[in-house]
Amino acid sequence: MQVQLNFSLKKYNSFGIQVLAEKFAMFNTVPDLLQLLQQYNKLPLLILGGGSNILFTKNVQGLVLKNNIEGIQKINEDEQYVYVKAGAGVQWHHFVQYCIQNNWAGVENLSLIPGCVGASPMQNIGAYGVEIKDVFHQLDAVHIADKKMVQFSASDCAFGYRESVFKQQYKNQFIITAVTFKLLKTPIFNTAYGAIEQELQRMKVQHLSIEAISNAVINIRKSKLPNPAVIGNAGSFFKNPVVSNQLFAAIKQQYAQVVGYAAGNDSTKLAAGWLIEQCGFKGYRQADAGCHALQALVLVNYGNATGSEIYQLSTKIIESVFEKFGVLLEREVNIV
Ligand code: FAD
Ligand code: EPU
Repeated sequence: MQVQLNFSLKKYNSFGIQVLAEKFAMFNTVPDLLQLLQQYNKLPLLILGGGSNILFTKNVQGLVLKNNIEGIQKINEDEQYVYVKAGAGVQWHHFVQYCIQNNWAGVENLSLIPGCVGASPMQNIGAYGVEIKDVFHQLDAVHIADKKMVQFSASDCAFGYRESVFKQQYKNQFIITAVTFKLLKTPIFNTAYGAIEQELQRMKVQHLSIEAISNAVINIRKSKLPNPAVIGNAGSFFKNPVVSNQLFAAIKQQYAQVVGYAAGNDSTKLAAGWLIEQCGFKGYRQADAGCHALQALVLVNYGNATGSEIYQLSTKIIESVFEKFGVLLEREVNIV
């Protein structure tokens, strides 16, 4: 395994931010990973998948490790489920396509999410009514401090909305090497998210299938989310904030159009994109840092923005939304 010095991460983050890693290496297997961990025991470590949920604001000290562990394998099945294990370096959308080809159901609503399988439990990726916690069985990880393999069940991961134990108390302590999913042999179609129904009708789908749902999701996503290969971004920059029903009612009284969804426990999840748009940021641009013209929740790099410029724009948005609505937005993207 070659360790490169002062390595540019521009091609390794979907924002396309130019920063250097003091040291950079890729690993394809768990033994290779363990060897690197032994060798560079004392250095700070950053694990990289597809770099599609990271904003680099400065050069990275220490060792950046790019996870390239490949492989998808059916490891078990029972009457209802197949258990499928995927290496952490497998492209998430490739995994989704592989499941659809094999008629294993459950991840079709999560089509076209960028990044790798290994990062999917980090923030419990979600879209169009499904989160990975719904199909998660277990994961394998290396504990960085003692270099031992550990398994996590779904309850160990403490999944929440864009949350898991790996973003909280176990932050930077484990390297996920594989994830096992529990997929349905007989699909239960999830078209509850309104836009999917509409798109299926537009596509004139006669027989509902996981493939048709995947295609509908892909069409919807392509219509509003910028392609990072064309314009740098990391998807939603902020989480959709969950507020008390009382605050929601107060906002609604003043802004009848406010978009909110019941979130249980006397709370409402607000559409951050709507809040940001109301503050006038949709389509806003400051040098090469901007707020996307079709989706205000997505911050973009038009070319040569620095991570600090994107970060400063995000701070400006947080302050503006707080001033107007009294709602504090939280960044979803990992800031490095
Ligand atoms: P990275 O960005 O490389 O890493 C993310 C974090 O996880 C970092 O902190 C990193 O250190 C850590 N990490 C990565 N791999 C490992 C590992 N193996 N072990 C331990 N830690 C690790 N997300 C959604 O949830 N839903 C969406 O609909 C969605 N849409 C998106 C659309 C676009 C256009 C883009 C650019 C992003 C979108 N995202 C979405 C965000 C992103 O795709 C997901 O968060 C994805 O899971 C990130 O994967 P990655 O491999 O790129 O992770
Ligand atoms: N909206 C606006 N203005 C905007 C953007 C959105 O008014 O500029 C309104 C829309 O009209 C809609 C509502 O906000 O009524 C929700 O918008 P959308 O359906 O586009 O979804 P979102 O809440 O903005 C979330 C996730 C996405 C995920 C989609 C689909 C978060 C933070 N984001 O976006 O995930 O793909 O739903 O399920 O939860 C990501 O995490 O990176 C991501 C892209």
